[in-house]
Amino acid sequence: MKFFIDTANLDQIKEAQELGVLDGVTTNPSLMAKEGITGRNNILKHYVDICNIVEGDVSAEVIATEFKEMVKEGEELAELHEQIVVKVPMIKDGVKALKYFSDNGIRTNCTLVFSVGQALLAAKAGATYVSPFIGRLDDISTDGLNLIAEIRHIYDNYAFETQILAASVRHTMHVIDCAKIGADVMTGPLSSIEGLLRHPLTDSGLEKFLADYKKGN
Ligand code: E4P
Repeated sequence: MKFFIDTANLDQIKEAQELGVLDGVTTNPSLMAKEGITGRNNILKHYVDICNIVEGDVSAEVIATEFKEMVKEGEELAELHEQIVVKVPMIKDGVKALKYFSDNGIRTNCTLVFSVGQALLAAKAGATYVSPFIGRLDDISTDGLNLIAEIRHIYDNYAFETQILAASVRHTMHVIDCAKIGADVMTGPLSSIEGLLRHPLTDSGLEKFLADYKKGN
């Protein structure tokens, strides 16, 4: 399973990259705003800065909601850097744009996916990644992980190449459960990745090993 970090914070992206397990980055307009990145030129520059830190795919989201504008914006984003993946919302014009980008060699991430029907459409339109938002489904008492399992089942039935990018991951158990189900990618905060590290028996075991070493040296 690929690990993406879901942030526009350069320090956190660097930290995850230095850990050596990072495969890419996802951003969205809210995450950019959270870092105070505003204005078209600053936003475009920030995407390039992110690409220069990581080796993998970097999702950059279009703001347009009309087909022609989406295409124009997506092409501009894709030209920024070879690592850019154009993030397109799951709306009618978005599906048309996914198909256009797919036919024209531009990689895409279909975002704001909350149902298997939407995921099926995204795959049919040739999306590179589909992003079901599991945390936001959990927030409204709907099983987000079940959606990942249903999409996995349907994509495997037809050998769709679209990769399932489990998004809106909130914690470490989401990461583990997504891995069990067979999501191709997960994107979450740095804490969801670092949480995989921790176990009290590791800490107490290391403490004892180091104490015993000191006794003999
Ligand atoms: C995915 O690409 C989205 O940016 C993200 O995962 C949304 O997460 P949230 O529901 O925690 O805002």
